[in-house]
Amino acid sequence: MPDAGWVRVAGVADVGEGQVHAVRVGDREIALYHLPGGEFRATENVCTHEYALLSDGWLEDGCIECPLHAARFDVRTGKALCAPAETDIKVFEVKVENADLMLKVPA
Ligand code: FES
Repeated sequence: MPDAGWVRVAGVADVGEGQVHAVRVGDREIALYHLPGGEFRATENVCTHEYALLSDGWLEDGCIECPLHAARFDVRTGKALCAPAETDIKVFEVKVENADLMLKVPA
């Protein structure tokens, strides 16, 4: 029985190592990241600069680069690392449960 507040958002096999996977939870766009070494992270998927999906960008060294104007965000903390983005992205708790990726539903 999953913990209250957690929902299955993808299978572990859906997000290859080094890849980003977009999911929708309610009205939120979420990006799931599989970092080298088996670490999974989740952030909101929409850039804080203008409208672009970070899941269309490039994941490297624990950072996602926006495909539109190349702002970079740390996927562990959500911190905006360079212009033109000035606002951090939200991060969400994610965990592996058996073969499933579970996301803690934001309040
Ligand atoms: S929309 Fe992401 S950097 Fe401009």
